[in-house]
Amino acid sequence: TSALQTIIVERRDRVGLITLNRPKSLNALTAQVAVETLAALKAFDVDDQVRAIVITGSTRAFAAGADIAEMAEKPFTSFYMSDFLAPWDEIKTISKPIIAAVGGFALGGGCELAMLCDFIIASEDAQFGQPEIKLGILPGMGGSQRLTHAIGKSLAMDLILTGRSIGAAEAKALGLVARVVPNTDLLQVALEAAHTIAAYNAPAVKMAKEAVNRAFEVPLSEGVRHERLLFQAAFATEGQKEGMNAFVNKRAPVFRHR
Ligand code: CAA
Repeated sequence: TSALQTIIVERRDRVGLITLNRPKSLNALTAQVAVETLAALKAFDVDDQVRAIVITGSTRAFAAGADIAEMAEKPFTSFYMSDFLAPWDEIKTISKPIIAAVGGFALGGGCELAMLCDFIIASEDAQFGQPEIKLGILPGMGGSQRLTHAIGKSLAMDLILTGRSIGAAEAKALGLVARVVPNTDLLQVALEAAHTIAAYNAPAVKMAKEAVNRAFEVPLSEGVRHERLLFQAAFATEGQKEGMNAFVNKRAPVFRHR
């Protein structure tokens, strides 16, 4: 991890932790942040010791967006030929659960990064928004799509067209975030949630994430059929035998990990 310049990568028991670490620019997301974050996520995804992942920032900012200084003078051809921002979308290829622990600003690309994760736990002072319109641009890391899926057309239009941001309580009420916790508890709660997930039957966890994500890609009948096949497949796992045997015998299950 010593070569990393923009993030800190740690393992806490069975949980992989990625901390965005560009405090001077409120964790603005440079191309380097994308390269390092994706490499860390892919390494965790193939690491048998890791069962769940948390991405967090600082108390002041999860991330205040893509790095404006880096983008300001770039010509179209540079963005186009490098397919700028495309690496972030690869987060959807990660099969292990990713929790975004969001404190402070989650603006622009920061809000989009949080939405690329599987669910968001926010601290009371978190702020979410897509202020790109104020810069003469629009969201570019999936915000127009994922925010609309998360909170619906009218509110997504409001936030994206006016550039206003919303606080944690409103984000929770809208369903954008799963939980709001006191500022000082943020990382602890996110790690606890990740450890909870990490203790379950790993194949079932992977299947559950896959099943939920299908809801955004296919018609309902296909999604339900896909879920049913995964459900049936879960009975081929050792963890299903253990989980049900433990319930029947009134003891705590112990899901073995390779
Ligand atoms: N890119 C680069 N630098 C940024 C940044 C960003 N997105 N956001 C903040 N910074 C830098 C500031 O330039 C400042 O640097 P200096 O100390 O060198 O001047 C430092 O971080 C601290 O920021 P402020 O002094 O502005 O702090 P503040 O508390 O007064 O304001 C803020 C905080 C409201 C978040 C403000 O920094 C801000 O509006 N940031 C930009 C938010 C934004 O527009 N995000 C969208 C970016 S575009 C995008 O993300 C495209 C996409 O969809 C992928």
